[in-house]
Amino acid sequence: MNKKILAGNLKMNLLSPLERERYLNGLKKELKNKKFENTTLVLCPPFVHIEAFGKSVGKKVALGAQDVFAEIQGPYTGEISPLMLKNTGCEYVIVGHSERRRYFSESDYEVNLKALSAMRNGIRPIICVGETREERETHAILQVITRQVRGAMENVNRVKARDFVIVYEPVWAVGTDVIPSSDEVLGAKLLIKKILVGLFGSQHGQETPIIYGGSVNVKTLRQVCIDPGMSGALVGRESLNPREFVRMAEILEKG
Ligand code: PGA
Repeated sequence: MNKKILAGNLKMNLLSPLERERYLNGLKKELKNKKFENTTLVLCPPFVHIEAFGKSVGKKVALGAQDVFAEIQGPYTGEISPLMLKNTGCEYVIVGHSERRRYFSESDYEVNLKALSAMRNGIRPIICVGETREERETHAILQVITRQVRGAMENVNRVKARDFVIVYEPVWAVGTDVIPSSDEVLGAKLLIKKILVGLFGSQHGQETPIIYGGSVNVKTLRQVCIDPGMSGALVGRESLNPREFVRMAEILEKG
């Protein structure tokens, strides 16, 4: 059985080494004597903290980054190479988060290049797709998700499809405490699965884990993740609280 994935997106937080150490100490305490057999815990701190996270909790928690550049090396001021991430211990990277699409105008094409490059360098891309409030109100969910998933998975080899992770993360649910019903999440999951089967065939298209993101916490986890049969969750705010993050992992582990 494939393990479930609980990924924490720490975003632009933990502003100093002191804050980072506090967080890591809290996390170590919460993880003590706990073993997760069915759930992979992933944390995506800001780039500058990745190495310290690896040294501190790297055995129990897989490391991820929040973004990556498509090129490997060269004159790209300010960018981070997938190979740098790999060599720093990262196994995952979030690609196409709605905040990157919105504030940095990331296109489906760029998301695809980044995801392919991450993959080529041995890092699993966690690709975010989902509709905005306006797109939801104008019943454009089908078109938006189809465009985003097809765009992100362009030129992916079918045998590699299983190593990608797709997050259904409705943009209107991010940072809001408003969440979709289980049926809405299930509908999105079936749609994404159908698109993937169309792209990769019925065998390989079924293997890509589809997880949920957007206002996940210990109270909402059942409705948006467990009941609709998602393969895990991407957590923003609540991953900043080690206790809540580990509690969510425990619920997923049992669920
Ligand atoms: P949130 O963020 O859990 O704070 O809503 C989720 C995300 O942006 O991935």
